[in-house]
Amino acid sequence: MAWACFRGRAMPESLTSLPERVRIVEVGPRDGLQNEPSLVSAEVKAQLIERLIDAGVRYIEAASFVSPKWVPQMADGASVLERVLPAARRSATTLAALVPNMKGLEAALASHVDEIAVFAAASESFSRKNINCSIDESIARFEPVIAAARQANVRIRGYVSCVLGCPFEGEIAPDAVARVAARLFDLGCYEISLGDTIGAGTPSKTRAMLDACAAYVPVHALAGHFHDTWGMAAANVLAALQRGVATFDSSVSGIGGCPYSPGATGNVATEDIVYLCEGMGIATGIDLGRLADAGAFISRALGRETSSRVARALEGRRRREAATH
Ligand code: HMG
Ligand code: MG
Repeated sequence: MAWACFRGRAMPESLTSLPERVRIVEVGPRDGLQNEPSLVSAEVKAQLIERLIDAGVRYIEAASFVSPKWVPQMADGASVLERVLPAARRSATTLAALVPNMKGLEAALASHVDEIAVFAAASESFSRKNINCSIDESIARFEPVIAAARQANVRIRGYVSCVLGCPFEGEIAPDAVARVAARLFDLGCYEISLGDTIGAGTPSKTRAMLDACAAYVPVHALAGHFHDTWGMAAANVLAALQRGVATFDSSVSGIGGCPYSPGATGNVATEDIVYLCEGMGIATGIDLGRLADAGAFISRALGRETSSRVARALEGRRRREAATH
């Protein structure tokens, strides 16, 4: 058994044992649609979320309450949440929203979200481009947001962006990621999602970054958030699974990216993660066929092909089977 160190205490390191179950955080309606050039109506967003719920997805980041001047695609968050709240409550699905400041928190609470997410970066340049302030200023801004959310009994997730590289600064040291992750965790975020915003990571870099973070934040409170720009996202998910990470963010059909990360493509497709995990005997609770149907729905609405290799393979198999009957 290999051992790692968590705040001075020796902890067993799960290098070989994979989790029995993973939690999928579906971020397509937020991370995906925030970066699609075509505006999608609140009604279509709501239909997408309801289809995801039907497929068994139980955690959905449905909206963001950021400045509409910065991200106009997310301006209709309140309307989306109002439409999907009944289906989410019926199915015990957690609805979350991204929040950058007190104004965003107030809007999110008024929309009855179950959780919020605050978002910092491991890179100073990205922090300034994305939220117009330094890393220190962002953490100071989140302090009252987190305190008020806790008072309202709303759980808080924390994001760290640029964990495996920055579009403006290049390489980011694992220790820089770990410092920001630790600060968010200590402020009261129950989970830290580690974002490979530009999708440039590799499995060995993923392992080094996770090991640095695990010195400050328990592994069960870390989540992987991989974008697939360089085609490494599934390999990075596997590397993270082997380090004991059991929560992954993904976006149906692989839609989206980040408006402040030029050239980055969407998140790893949820279909690909579900296929990867279920194929290794790791339960996701998600019906792959229905999930692919939700992906086909939003791809049609956006007028583009799915980015999911698994969805394409499934569709090909369906066509071949239909042709032989
Ligand atoms: P600012 O311009 O410095 O802030 O922006 P401000 O306080 O001066 O506000 C400017 C205007 O926006 C004002 O309106 C405010 O009222 C309004 P005006 O007086 O000019 O008419 N405003 C708001 N309106 C609605 N909701 C709000 C809000 N706040 C201010 N919450 C700010 C600072 C943080 C607001 C801005 O930079 C912003 O909204 N940034 C968001 C950028 C964003 O959403 N990026 C994508 C999400 S991060 C991501 O995708 C990465 C992630 O997926 C992980 C990964 O992949 O790495 C999470
Ligand atoms: Mg992202």
